[in-house]
Amino acid sequence: MAVSAPHSLLTCHADSVDLALREARQAAPDGALIAEIAEGVLLLNVPFAQLAEAWRAKPPIFARHLCPATTTLPLPSLDDAETLLILLQNACREALLPHLAPYVPFSVQTRVFDAAVPLKPFAVNTALAALVSAAPLEVRQPQQVISVAIGRLNGQPTAWLGLSAVADNLSSWAGGARRFKHEAGRISRSEFKLLEALEVFRLSTPARGDALDLGAAPGGWTHVLRERGMSVTAVDPAALDPRLLSDPAVRYKRMTAEAFLPTARESYDLIVNDMRLDARASARLTVAYRRLLKAEGWALITLKLPHSERLSALESALESLERAYRIAGARQLFHNRSEVTVHLRPR
Ligand SMILES: C[S@@+](CC[C@H](N)C(=O)[O-])C[C@H]1O[C@@H](n2cnc3c(N)ncnc32)[C@H](O)[C@@H]1O
Repeated sequence: MAVSAPHSLLTCHADSVDLALREARQAAPDGALIAEIAEGVLLLNVPFAQLAEAWRAKPPIFARHLCPATTTLPLPSLDDAETLLILLQNACREALLPHLAPYVPFSVQTRVFDAAVPLKPFAVNTALAALVSAAPLEVRQPQQVISVAIGRLNGQPTAWLGLSAVADNLSSWAGGARRFKHEAGRISRSEFKLLEALEVFRLSTPARGDALDLGAAPGGWTHVLRERGMSVTAVDPAALDPRLLSDPAVRYKRMTAEAFLPTARESYDLIVNDMRLDARASARLTVAYRRLLKAEGWALITLKLPHSERLSALESALESLERAYRIAGARQLFHNRSEVTVHLRPR
């Protein structure tokens, strides 16, 4: 499946470009930014293999998605979708398909950043997938991905194509954009943040286990944990959604986490903390809560980053968490805004 790519496309939050670039420079000091082809989508003059190898050993926090740019294809005409699809098919056939691993599930992930290009991602995905007969198409859980990005470079509409193992892409979703269905009954959009973290960090929630939710209101995370059969102690001075108040498996403590801690006697299978609090203060409080976490349990915290000095705030919060926990993962997820989600295991 290895196919060399002289350039890489890195995706991160629009407000974390500087931090993601810093991570790329640490992994590949000779690399350079060619262009930001869309908000938070960076074309880098760095071989994909170099970044993938460095990040396999130590995943980045702010770089959310990485894919190779093996072929750079200037697109001559913008008014004819058929011609564009044929050009993309030819490029894929020549540069990528000889390297596709047979029998290994694949998918095509296309992102179109230029509204003037008359192509929809689905049309490109379908046209390129139709070329493949040696491997099964598996859109939800591919092991290898043909990535296509269409944007503009120095005013020229351009497509970048590459093939990689999904394990090297930092996310199995196009651009790391993990979207969930908007189901009726959701309490808050924050639910997506927890659902994404459970998936990314591969966390299991023991049915009939006990969870502690710090900063629980209005109750999205409590709702997700209840859906998985856990009993939840929800701590927040703000109001919890009335739908949760009538649930006997939800114990609502209408107080701050600071006030609840000295009164707490129970131990928990997991502790989650989405408190809107300075990252360092929230980390210190999470360390104090360590005594309530069972030895085989896990904790999850969103660290809210300040407007300035984001990196030093994050680093000192992580440092204090390390006094009581092993940092098992730290990522700025698709559903995080100015925050980073951290997965902790007790030391
Ligand atoms: C982003 S909201 C949490 C959303 C929640 N995870 C959900 O899914 O609905 C942050 C919450 O932190 C709470 N909070 C802030 N400081 C707190 C503290 N010291 N103790 C407990 N909760 C706190 C706020 O009242 C607010 O409800």
